[in-house]
Amino acid sequence: MVTTLDDTKRMMIGTKLADIKALQELVIANEQRFISEINDQDIRHRFQEMLKDDQKNMGVLETVIVQYGIKSEPKQTIRQFVDKLQELMGGSELSIFEKVFQHELLKHQLVMSGVVVHKAAQKVGADVELAITPLNTVNFENRAHQEQLKGVLEVLGVRELTGQEADQGLWARVQDAVAALSGVAGSVITQNSDKSDLNIQDVIRLDHNKTNTLFTEILGSNDPQKIQEYFGQLYKDLSVHAEAEERVVYPAVRPFYGQNDTQELYDEQAEMKRKLEEIKALSPASSEFKDKVRQLMEAVGDHIRQEESTMFAAIRNNLSSDQSEQLATQFKAAKSQLQDQMSASKK
Ligand SMILES: [Fe+2]
Ligand SMILES: [Fe+2]
Repeated sequence: MVTTLDDTKRMMIGTKLADIKALQELVIANEQRFISEINDQDIRHRFQEMLKDDQKNMGVLETVIVQYGIKSEPKQTIRQFVDKLQELMGGSELSIFEKVFQHELLKHQLVMSGVVVHKAAQKVGADVELAITPLNTVNFENRAHQEQLKGVLEVLGVRELTGQEADQGLWARVQDAVAALSGVAGSVITQNSDKSDLNIQDVIRLDHNKTNTLFTEILGSNDPQKIQEYFGQLYKDLSVHAEAEERVVYPAVRPFYGQNDTQELYDEQAEMKRKLEEIKALSPASSEFKDKVRQLMEAVGDHIRQEESTMFAAIRNNLSSDQSEQLATQFKAAKSQLQDQMSASKK
């Protein structure tokens, strides 16, 4: 039974996300290199701005991967590609124009990978779409970067070929691309560009929303295979979320949320885990399966309501926004570690 909890399509999207992360790391390394190697003030400034976006987007990408819930490694070929390109970028075979040219191709690869993941998510399920939504902002920014890089390439290319400055106006395209970018309406993650960190309430709420979507998917489907796939994801998400709350959140809120209320949350989660195991042992084709899922949904719903009302209020009243963001970072790290353990224990 346990083996079928994993779905191949979901695993493949996980691999693609890991590929994107590996490419994003290379993008950041390239930009750091360009900033130290390129003397032109304007171009250097352009790369500094891009680097800021890309570092922020790396954080978004990491959040998306944890939110998605299936950790994976990049494909071997992507790793080889990244190594080879890194070597070329560090060497002297390529001119600076050629290096930036490769960088632009890399951005294109990132954009297309992001688009494909987005399209694939629409086929796999609403919960997947929800988890990867912030990736849209990353894609949009990468597209804008591509436009800027085209302008940079024209300047560098004309210089390399003729030793002269390109006609004025080439920078106009760069400026247009920058303007287009600043008009973007961000997602929940990047709504406020200064506040790239989510607080603990935001992160917990993201998980709760995904859980609700999965319940809806399970109850709305009549295909046992689909039901099994959705339940597999729900099982993993709920187990990891609950465990991370017990490790990071509940101990932190206990002093001000109170011994009794906090203990209640622990008890409810113990009951929830029992229900999850019970359902896992059932056939998704049986009528009992959905009845038990419905019971679980009600119990989880009550639990979520308590967390989002009284526990969130206690957090707001007792933690500074810095403390709450720190807690979010710890919570995400705990989830990430638990996901790793989960996938390792199945191998
Ligand atoms: Fe909880
Ligand atoms: Fe929760």
